[in-house]
Amino acid sequence: MKIDLVSIFPQYFTALDLSLLGKAAETGLVHARVHDLRQWTHDRHRSVDDTPYGGGAGMVMMPQVWGEALDTLIHDAPHSNDSDRSEAVRTVLAIPTPSGSPLTQAKAADLATADHLIIACGRYEGIDQRIGDHYRERGLEVYEYSIGDYVLNGGEVAALVLVEAVTRLLEGFMGNPDSIVEESHSDGLLEYPAYTKPRSWRELDVPAVLLSGDHAAIARWRRNRALERTAKRRPDMIASLALDTLDSADRMTLARVGVLLTDTGTHHLEIRAARAEEAALIARLAARTFPDACPPELPAEAMNVFITDHLNEDTFAAHIANPEDQIFVAIVDGELSGYCLVRTGETAIDADMIRPGKIDAGDAYLSKCYVDTPWRGTGLAGALLERSIEYAAAHTQAPRIVVGTHRSNFRAQKFYRKHGFVKKGRRIFTVAGIPNHDVVLVRDLTTFAASEKD
Ligand code: ADE
Repeated sequence: MKIDLVSIFPQYFTALDLSLLGKAAETGLVHARVHDLRQWTHDRHRSVDDTPYGGGAGMVMMPQVWGEALDTLIHDAPHSNDSDRSEAVRTVLAIPTPSGSPLTQAKAADLATADHLIIACGRYEGIDQRIGDHYRERGLEVYEYSIGDYVLNGGEVAALVLVEAVTRLLEGFMGNPDSIVEESHSDGLLEYPAYTKPRSWRELDVPAVLLSGDHAAIARWRRNRALERTAKRRPDMIASLALDTLDSADRMTLARVGVLLTDTGTHHLEIRAARAEEAALIARLAARTFPDACPPELPAEAMNVFITDHLNEDTFAAHIANPEDQIFVAIVDGELSGYCLVRTGETAIDADMIRPGKIDAGDAYLSKCYVDTPWRGTGLAGALLERSIEYAAAHTQAPRIVVGTHRSNFRAQKFYRKHGFVKKGRRIFTVAGIPNHDVVLVRDLTTFAASEKD
């Protein structure tokens, strides 16, 4: 790639000789030349600027001097002396300006396919608009770009930024091309945090998973951290992720930091302990969602009796008031859209669930995780469940958490298994006098802290 940099401060570009770019120049991968704009002036003062038409502060760079400079450099395009020009040469005139379009990694990758980059560095209030307009009209690719929402004194630093962002993507430039695939922005996310030796520094330890040698676990950990970091620092990048690039673990990670992505856009999720005044709302949500967890053969009448008797406002008010119970609610864009109830204490585990050594009276009971239809598959249920499990592990003495679900509800069983639950027994769950056959699944809480901390 041939690069021409034009500026009234050519000394700025001595930095190009440093580091990898210097090496790229040595190997011939990049041929960079720096030009002093003033060599194209003709007056005694070597003037490059004048006052703006229409008034205003500052000076504007004159088109004549830039026109002469750029005509010379464009004419001097790569291969222009070759007799055999089988392929078209792509020349791009890049003009750094705070009013340009934002420079992105995608644009840098696109420019890495150009043959010739001419970077015109303005100073003062910039270059007369007719320069960009004229060369665009002549069919040249003109790229007016900004490196951020702040104003520099001139385009030189922005030119260095462009050169570095583009040339490191040239084939053969990087020692290890994998680092380009893994770095920030390459997959629409910021990069995960990096650590090196020593393992412990000023009482800060490298996350244990990175020392585990478990490549799948490391990849998952890194992806989770990248998603969390991007959600926190660059919500705009999360909003432009394509939904089909996210798997269910990705969606849950985002949900846990309060972001739900659906085909209708980005939604804000808050998971917190239920408040006393929410009992009626939770009861209504439970009434809406309970039938989905029932087998299709269960008569609607029986479900309604169960809802009236057990999923009413008073029951939920009692759970909220009971220190042995904990309800977590999921609020999506301000609306209650899911809940999870964790019960501890003597009556939490029904006698017929007990399998000594596998399910005991001291275990916590998860009274299912109910989520409104629009939010199924968004990661909300997983985030709500993990929050409840985290609570049970940290705030109760229970060695396990137990859940029952109808034996024909394979979707729920798969969901619980994905969250570390293992089938440990059966029970009869009676709905308005009708016996239902449930499977009982259990998750160990004693190893929770060690496995989840990272
Ligand atoms: N020139 C002055 N400020 C600039 C910016 N933010 N980006 C590109 N060029 C500039």
